[in-house]
Amino acid sequence: MTEHLPVSVRAPRRVPLVGRHAELRVLAGHVRGAQAQDGPGGAVLLAGEPGIGKTRLLDRLARTCPEHLVVGIAGVRSQARLGFAALHGLLRPFLGGLDTLPPPQREALGAAFGLVSGGTADRYLAGLATLTLLAGAASVRPLLVLVDDVQWLDPESADVLGFVGRCLHGDAVALVLAGRDDRDGPDPFDGIPVLSLTGLPPADARDLLAANSAGRIDPAVAGRIAAETGGNPLALLRLTRTLTAEQLSGGAPLPVALPVPGRLRAHFLRRVRALPADTRTLLLVMAAAAPRESAERWRAAGYLGIAAHAADAATAAGILTREHAAGFQHPVFRSAVYWGAEAADRRLAHAALAAVTDPVRAPDRRAWHRAEAAVGPDAEVAGELEAAARHARADGGPAAEATFLLRAAELSPTDRVPRFLAAAHAHLALGNPASAQAAVDRAETELGPEDALLRARVRQTRTRVDLHRARLTDVLLAERARTELAAAGEQARTPAEPADRALTHREREVARLAAGGVLNADIAGRLFISVSTVEYHLGKVFRKLGVTSRRQLTTVLDAEARLP
Ligand SMILES: Nc1ncnc2c1ncn2[C@@H]1O[C@H](COP(=O)(O)OP(=O)(O)OP(=O)(O)O)[C@@H](O)[C@H]1O
Ligand SMILES: [Mg+2]
Repeated sequence: MTEHLPVSVRAPRRVPLVGRHAELRVLAGHVRGAQAQDGPGGAVLLAGEPGIGKTRLLDRLARTCPEHLVVGIAGVRSQARLGFAALHGLLRPFLGGLDTLPPPQREALGAAFGLVSGGTADRYLAGLATLTLLAGAASVRPLLVLVDDVQWLDPESADVLGFVGRCLHGDAVALVLAGRDDRDGPDPFDGIPVLSLTGLPPADARDLLAANSAGRIDPAVAGRIAAETGGNPLALLRLTRTLTAEQLSGGAPLPVALPVPGRLRAHFLRRVRALPADTRTLLLVMAAAAPRESAERWRAAGYLGIAAHAADAATAAGILTREHAAGFQHPVFRSAVYWGAEAADRRLAHAALAAVTDPVRAPDRRAWHRAEAAVGPDAEVAGELEAAARHARADGGPAAEATFLLRAAELSPTDRVPRFLAAAHAHLALGNPASAQAAVDRAETELGPEDALLRARVRQTRTRVDLHRARLTDVLLAERARTELAAAGEQARTPAEPADRALTHREREVARLAAGGVLNADIAGRLFISVSTVEYHLGKVFRKLGVTSRRQLTTVLDAEARLP
């Protein structure tokens, strides 16, 4: 029987547990050892950063101990000031045994839980009472007590549970605590063995990424994600959602530093925020530099007037490695520092890196840093990026080429259309029609009334993109649409032949608005076309997609949005 588990332990999950065999063996050893007088003792503290998988492991442990009665609680931040609240939650199922306790223990627990008036809630006596109650329950059936999020326990409950944990031997009571590894103040769990939970090893991290992703993940991309997250499962899972399918498949480059979930960033930033300003700037320069720019990062710091000894404070705080302060102790520091900084400070770091990067030996990296430092359009930087794109093409780096071109277009003060179109073509060559379409869309918004020739080129490129998308996705779309409609108990009409099924840009615009519930008259107003033109386009959309109602259209477009 499993009882009284913390809500988080019961939360549904989508991804099967990956790895963690060794950790589960250690935990199971402690649980078994609880019954032996000379065993390793019945308490262990699972410690680690946010998202590393502590709760998930507790959950798995509970499932692997069928012979145990499992009880559990979790510390709750908002209840951390309510004395004995957590302990009360834990002992509630056993309070029937209160009368069997020796009077001093009964009174202490009674006072702690407000069950009697007067009396003092002595923590030592409350600890003894807790031990007696748990041992009594375990005499019927071995007991596994799980206490998650100990960092948010009220101090009284934490003291009592620490005391209990140190006393458990041979009582058939196993206590497994779990919490963050940066708890402040005196440690109530001192003396209880700690199992530090670290990131998943690279192979397991890659398995987790693959298990949580609908599309293909490029091995090099998976390797970088595994390395930069330090194998933190929460960060790994989140990145499969925040990065685009193109980034995951290697078709588009990854950001300078991979973003990690807020609670993980906040956890790592706590230590960074306590550092002197120079040290923080130095860390930001290190985070903005590419991994191979080790010489440049020090020169850039010097360029900003930061002395090398600014690194000492970060080394002492365990943020930089001791060996010449060469890198971050934990890879997530890099992301936390980079994305935790103000945008203006990030630009400053990139500007310093650009200033010290050799324009002859590393022109492309310099161009990239200059681009990241730019506040607005800059013809010179745009020109450098275009040159970098040419180099990337010559070196067989199409993804870099596409990215350089797109950024060149964004930073061009004039003549942006041809650059957006060049970026669109590069994305098409890469097999990324969605990015190509986004680039064409941006080209179109840049067109002026006099640009007849450019307008024709935009149209031409869009046709190529549409054809590409039609080939790639419409077969999938039609299949998915049929499945979705069948699931909804509706039948799709036989759609037109594949070659005719691709929606034009305008049809897609109209379809999206109609599916979003916009009325025909409003669609007409928004797109500056007549209502009858809207009706005409919608008629074609319905025929092409084999749908007969707006509701079906919404289903189909939703299905398309979920296509890989
Ligand atoms: N080994 C694993 N295999 C698959 N998924 C995992 C694994 N470990 C953790 N996860 C998933 O990663 C996410 C974060 O894990 P979990 O909530 O256990 O972290 P935590 O250490 O308890 O974090 P916090 O300190 O914030 O409570 C959850 O969605 C969890 O299901
Ligand atoms: Mg947790």
